Amino acid sequence: MFSMPVVNLSFFVLALSTWLITRSNAADLTPSPHPSNMPPHKPELSLSHWSHETPPTQPPKPSPGCGCEPSPEDFTNMKQYEAYKVIKRFKGIITSDPLNITGTWVGTKICDNDEINTYRGFYCDTPPVTTDLTIASIDFNGFHLGAPTLDGFINGFPDLALFHANSNNFSGTVPDLSGLPYFYELDLSNNNFSGPFPTNVVPLTNLAFLDLRFNHFEGPVPSQIFYIGYEALFLNNNIFDSSIPASLGSSPVEYLTFANNRFTGPIPASICNTSRTLLEVLFLNNQFSGCLPYEIGYLRDLTVFDVGMNQLTGYIPLSFGCLSNIEQLNLAQNSLYGMVPDVVCQLAKTGNLVNLSLSDNYFTSLGPNCWDLLHTNVLDVRNNCIVGLPNQKSPIECHFFFSLPRHCPYIAYMPCEVNPRRNATCYDRTHWPWHFDHSPPLLH
Ligand SMILES: *[C@@H]1O[C@H](CO)[C@@H](O)[C@H](O)[C@H]1NC(C)=O
Ligand SMILES: *[C@@H]1O[C@H](CO)[C@@H](O)[C@H](O)[C@H]1NC(C)=O
Ligand SMILES: *[C@@H]1O[C@H](CO)[C@@H](O)[C@H](O)[C@H]1NC(C)=O
Ligand SMILES: *[C@@H]1O[C@H](CO)[C@@H](O)[C@H](O)[C@H]1NC(C)=O
Ligand SMILES: *[C@@H]1O[C@H](CO)[C@@H](O)[C@H](O)[C@H]1NC(C)=O
Ligand SMILES: *[C@@H]1O[C@H](CO)[C@@H](O)[C@H](O)[C@H]1NC(C)=O
Repeated sequence: MFSMPVVNLSFFVLALSTWLITRSNAADLTPSPHPSNMPPHKPELSLSHWSHETPPTQPPKPSPGCGCEPSPEDFTNMKQYEAYKVIKRFKGIITSDPLNITGTWVGTKICDNDEINTYRGFYCDTPPVTTDLTIASIDFNGFHLGAPTLDGFINGFPDLALFHANSNNFSGTVPDLSGLPYFYELDLSNNNFSGPFPTNVVPLTNLAFLDLRFNHFEGPVPSQIFYIGYEALFLNNNIFDSSIPASLGSSPVEYLTFANNRFTGPIPASICNTSRTLLEVLFLNNQFSGCLPYEIGYLRDLTVFDVGMNQLTGYIPLSFGCLSNIEQLNLAQNSLYGMVPDVVCQLAKTGNLVNLSLSDNYFTSLGPNCWDLLHTNVLDVRNNCIVGLPNQKSPIECHFFFSLPRHCPYIAYMPCEVNPRRNATCYDRTHWPWHFDHSPPLLH
């Protein structure tokens, strides 16, 4: 494998940090301009590379003969000539271009285009191994281009590292990018893609960012995607409808955004094994069911955990009191019940918790730290079954809910209490050394 030379790395890191800094958290669920819609940094061109070029103010040298088609000699190098042909072919299948972007895709200056403003959306760099300046990054964010396919286009640039196309009207199948050794970031958000999960991305082991938000992808999400080194996996606002595979535990993912789909089944206990990396989880508005896994309490770096509007049930595990970095905890609009653990409310005092949304569940009681939070904007427990609080469910509705059988265990174990150094490892549930019981604590 090649290692990225310094120039490419700084180029890449800059693009990444822009992306990370401009988004406050993965809770950005709006289809409006992608957080990375700032144009990628254009690397400095070395003068020696370009000193033989005609200044852009002079008219292009007419090619001999009819002058209709440029020939390879008109380009700085063969890579740019090949890129020219790929762009020309793609231009021919564009179905809509309200901003006249393709009007700038003219001439032979594929890379030397700063002053003459041609080839908008294309950014050049020198790939590893060669000194030829060529297209390394494509950023079409907000261009509103329409095309029936990207096949033959993205995969036509052998040195491409990034393709960003937020808010366009591309459709068809996602091309096979396995021939692109440097490719690591794919953003197809807010387009017109449909059909099954694009399995062509599964073999791309270098892919660190995959953003498929706001399309019409449907069906299952393949379990293999969690064996890829994604740092960010944005699948929200599609029609995915599988359960989340247990392979999630193998993933080094930091941002996991599955909101507004039709995902089903329990949150896998294997999520525990992502504790070294996972920062933000957005699962809201799906059809997740089952008990809240106690293993979530191991996710020590988690800052956002949003599972609102699902069908989750059971107690909030005491282990949630170990989420010392949590800022946003949204469990609203589920069927959770029992006592709200006081150790969780305590995180608003000892930790970073600023929003604890528990409304529209069946919680029955609050500890003293929780009562304190009621006077702030932090805790929302509207529409539960808490005696003595206003805006609760009717006693009949609560009584009916608690008359039905419930199966979730109450687990009075806090991994951070047993191992205050917070390096407890995930236990296999079948070998749990501690006792838990099924009887609900403190039900009225
Ligand atoms: C698009 O831009 C090109 C180049 O600037 C210009 O020649 C052409 O007239 C424009 N087309 C439209 C429809 O504005
Ligand atoms: C895609 O095309 C539809 C229909 O022409 C249009 O309403 C929509 O705004 C377009 N979307 C984008 C992101 O350009
Ligand atoms: C979106 O894709 C559908 C096919 O899935 C196609 O019929 C439709 O024309 C596309 N819309 C646009 C605006 O490209
Ligand atoms: C976490 O990973 C370890 C080691 O790979 C494995 O033995 C364990 O079963 C995993 N835990 C869960 C909950 O998947
Ligand atoms: C807290 O989070 C909930 C759910 O995400 C949200 O609806 C609410 O507006 C937030 N409250 C505050 C005060 O930010
Ligand atoms: C936890 O980590 C600390 C330092 O990293 C180490 O000293 C300690 O032995 C570890 N504890 C366990 C139970 O692994």
